[in-house]
Amino acid sequence: ETETSDFVITDEIVGKKFRIRDEFSHKGTYGKVTIAGGSYGKIGAVVLATKSAMKSGSGLTFTLAPKCGYEVLQTSNPEAMFIEGGIDFIDNFEIDEHAVCGIGPGLGTNEKTVKSFLKFLKDYSKPLILDADALNIISQDKNNLKLIPKKSIITPHPKEFERLFGATENSFDRLEFAISKAKELTIYIVLKDHHTQVITPEGKVFYNITGNSGLAKGGSGDILTGILTSFLAQNYSEEESAVLAVWFHGKAAESASEKYSKESMLPTDVINEFGNVFAELN
Ligand code: APR
Ligand code: MG
Repeated sequence: ETETSDFVITDEIVGKKFRIRDEFSHKGTYGKVTIAGGSYGKIGAVVLATKSAMKSGSGLTFTLAPKCGYEVLQTSNPEAMFIEGGIDFIDNFEIDEHAVCGIGPGLGTNEKTVKSFLKFLKDYSKPLILDADALNIISQDKNNLKLIPKKSIITPHPKEFERLFGATENSFDRLEFAISKAKELTIYIVLKDHHTQVITPEGKVFYNITGNSGLAKGGSGDILTGILTSFLAQNYSEEESAVLAVWFHGKAAESASEKYSKESMLPTDVINEFGNVFAELN
């Protein structure tokens, strides 16, 4: 017997969850974020994820990336701090325990990266945001799934979902399968698609209806990772962070497409619309 509760993420639901920024606050109020990823030729992914985290309100933001990304990161994101995790790829995950960490954009799957990431996972117990190559590394061995910290949020696109858990016939079967995996592993699954679904460990499903095909471009997923990590660092619960982030990402995309068209809008343009989405919420 399966008991599921399904919800559409409405503007009203989001309005109720959103918290207005306290004037008597300081950067510590809004959490520490670490975005970990990047490798030679894929530094842009962490540039975007880091910028996205900062523009969605985090208090203090770090990028853990290889040295080859140092100049580009410090130039494109001067407000963020750089932590060196290797030369051309990360081979040392040194992550501040007080930070909320989003891992995966541009990470690559060099065998040294794989080794150090899996070692890090074994010793880490706080919820993580796991995306892209972090998920591809976990997919290399079914036993790795058990290493995902409880209450983590994973953000696979359909192909990454299949690599993690195996193939399904259609999107209905995939959703049922995702619900069973979220329960079994006690994780949140953000199943990215035209209508992204957020699945909780209790088996609740939230359908997102914001966003458009202007997001069908490399880099769109990286900015979702930034938003999610930022909201979790700002003390929203895992469920709230996931629900708010997918809605917010889509709203910013709608705003960007009005200005630039779905064809021309870039993930950077989507980030630059975050302010308009916040303005509507405030
Ligand atoms: N309508 C609405 N939303 C969409 C659409 C669409 N037609 N197409 C894409 N999106 C949204 C998805 O819901 C998701 O949030 O854009 C985002 C795309 O995320 P990814 O598939 O992860 O894309 P990308 O940014 O290119 O990922 C970067 O990481 O996952 C790896 O292999 C991937 O190299 C790529 C990198
Ligand atoms: Mg991606």
